[in-house]
Amino acid sequence: MDKLVIRGGHRISGSITASGSKNTSLPIIAATLLTGGGTFTLHHIPDLQDIMTFTQLLHHLGAETAFSGNTLTVSSRNAESLQAPYELVKKMRASIYVLGPLLARFGHARVSLPGGCAFGPRPIDLHLMAMKKLGADITIETGFIEASVRGGKLRGAHIEFPISSVGATGNTLMAAALAEGTTTISNAAAEPEIETLCHFLIAMGAEIRGTGTTELEISGSDSLKPIEFHNVFDRIEAGTLLAAAAITAGKITVNGVIPDQMKAVLKKFVHAGCIVETTENSITLTGPEKLVPTDVTAKPYPAFPTDMQAQWIALMTQAEGTSHITDKIYHERFNHIPELNRLGAHIEIRKNQAIVHGPQVLSGTKVMSTDLRASASLVLAGLVAKGTTEVLRVYHLDRGYEKIEKKLNSLGADISREKYKEF
Ligand code: UD1
Repeated sequence: MDKLVIRGGHRISGSITASGSKNTSLPIIAATLLTGGGTFTLHHIPDLQDIMTFTQLLHHLGAETAFSGNTLTVSSRNAESLQAPYELVKKMRASIYVLGPLLARFGHARVSLPGGCAFGPRPIDLHLMAMKKLGADITIETGFIEASVRGGKLRGAHIEFPISSVGATGNTLMAAALAEGTTTISNAAAEPEIETLCHFLIAMGAEIRGTGTTELEISGSDSLKPIEFHNVFDRIEAGTLLAAAAITAGKITVNGVIPDQMKAVLKKFVHAGCIVETTENSITLTGPEKLVPTDVTAKPYPAFPTDMQAQWIALMTQAEGTSHITDKIYHERFNHIPELNRLGAHIEIRKNQAIVHGPQVLSGTKVMSTDLRASASLVLAGLVAKGTTEVLRVYHLDRGYEKIEKKLNSLGADISREKYKEF
């Protein structure tokens, strides 16, 4: 297995370009299943384990893919298998994204149940509710979602989500794009990832109104066409890199971003004492010598994202006082806290809130990654810890951060990737 060995105490400074968004890539790759002919060319796709897993799933379904220099080509002309097996779905919950496109195109799908995840239960009831409303019969048998459509074609419906779900909104959009008639979605997720999926589907020929809002209306099409598409930047990677500069009192410019999509996070950096300057497509952050304690509450977009919560907790271990970080999306997403405390942080957990008592001097030791963003918080802590921090099970980090140690090293960090054996 790989570990990252971080020698702390270096300021993160310089200029870097954000990678393409992982959480946008996954639904747009799934959406390629909606067409029967031609080839998609998708640019700015990050070279990540999750993307590899998803393309493996597409291969399994009979699609052809090629990936080179962040460009992915997909032809799902020969897609025919309708089964997403456990071996692939268990690696990545986002595999559920194939449910909507397969049902819409073939009228059948068999997708393994994803199961729980490292930070608590992650139900898929909203995905299933939406597919049923669109006319699918769904049963759960031997660990699989068995879905089929009476008459072979989904029919438009009104779908109101009781809570905002990125995945369920994405799946519904894709299914509705090929359904008969009009679908309306109330309380849709308005995350930039969903906005981009809407742009992608519209470019394929779908009719969607309300893009970027929580009320979406989709008029189903008979067929959609393959397109060439330039993926958007990864707002969570960009936020993590900015946090690396903030925690080390450094100064970085992240290029290739849309600052408007990061307003909530940037506002918190400013509150924490950072100087933030933006242009149309770049953000420059200068970290203060002393960070101001800053509370955040993770909620659906446009609020502070849950995917930046762990990194914010790491940052606040260095703030001059106590801060409260609340997660209203995943109430149990705090696996990073015991590990941060092992580095010398003083963080308590009360229900879905972390109380961070700063500033604490962190000192390097071995810590264990438990999930993607938890690993990112450990890397940030390692950048300011005294001595050497070893972040084990780095495969979690590799799921979502493209060449993270190379990027950080180019900004002044001292990180090496080494092999180790786990007993
Ligand atoms: C996506 C992101 C993930 C991010 C999350 C919240 C991808 C690949 N992943 O995950 O990084 O942390 O959004 O911004 O884009 N829920 C239900 N029933 C469902 C579906 C969701 O109760 O059927 C709940 C979840 O438990 C959670 C909330 O809804 O409490 C939001 O989850 P959701 O937006 O669906 O997350 P994902 O799409 O899985």
